[in-house]
Amino acid sequence: MKRRALLGAVTASGLAALPFAARAQAYPSKPITVIVPFAAGGPTDALARILCQRMGEALGQQMIVENVGGAGGTIGVNKAAKAAPDGYTLAFTHMGTLAVNIALYKSLPYDSQKDFEPVGMGGTNPMVLVVKKDLPAKTFAEFVDYVKANQKKAQYGMAGIGAASHLGGLMLNSMMKVDVLEIPYKGTGPALNDLVSGQFDYMVDQAVNVLPQIKSGNVRALGVSTLKRLPQLPDVPTIDEAGLKGYEVTIWNGFFAPKGTPKDAIAKVNQALVTALSDEKVKVRLTELAVDLPSAQEASPEALRAQLKASIDKWVPAVKAAGVKPE
Ligand code: MLT
Repeated sequence: MKRRALLGAVTASGLAALPFAARAQAYPSKPITVIVPFAAGGPTDALARILCQRMGEALGQQMIVENVGGAGGTIGVNKAAKAAPDGYTLAFTHMGTLAVNIALYKSLPYDSQKDFEPVGMGGTNPMVLVVKKDLPAKTFAEFVDYVKANQKKAQYGMAGIGAASHLGGLMLNSMMKVDVLEIPYKGTGPALNDLVSGQFDYMVDQAVNVLPQIKSGNVRALGVSTLKRLPQLPDVPTIDEAGLKGYEVTIWNGFFAPKGTPKDAIAKVNQALVTALSDEKVKVRLTELAVDLPSAQEASPEALRAQLKASIDKWVPAVKAAGVKPE
């Protein structure tokens, strides 16, 4: 389109009349909504807000987090799947809601691999087994004995079927061979508040959420979900070394766009993500919270697509093997 005609189109009928390439140069021309499928104050929300703040600066438009909790994150993820594929609605979610829950629901309102365009990985979180302060167990071994002796009474908190905290808890309970009542919340932010006040006994949650409460002594950490101890919790054993050989659960989090979102929009958001992940302040903050940051390559849309498939292939059979029946 000739430059004069292009200018005419812009003045006469706004951006809509421009050829896509020119429209894309304008993207983003307004704030971007980022759906976090869990309540505010939890790990998914915390990681989203840290990244979105810096990404918005890079894009020159605000990235506004919208918390849509419920059904283990399924409600929020579905809202993103059904949003207009224009680059102005994204989801920031994790492995539980896109890979694990395939084994936990008889049917899901979205297909994780067909209904989304991966945008990029935001970080991978280790998990920590935390217990209420006045639980009599002071070590992992004492915890296992306590839960086995109190199965009818013990309760664990989680963020709904398919949440990361559900996966962490169900794998732990399955390996301990115990059947414990699960207490669902719209996110592990509110769940952690109740654990601090002793409303239930334990939770397996992402370190990014529980580290501050562990440091302040409001909950006690008895094990971490990685095969190596965390530098942020050097005195806390891994659950693997403490007695449940092979227990390993880490949760990747990432940005996803509804299928059909223009490639140029995805590329621009991905570039802003890479900028945020390489920002010194962001790196220090996320490392303090034990977030394992992806490299630029690991943060690519293609890497996230591959990670999603690998997680489906790994966790769907593992959850079925744990004997959990789909809802
Ligand atoms: C989860 O358990 O999936 C998350 O921790 C929930 C949340 O981010 O609140």
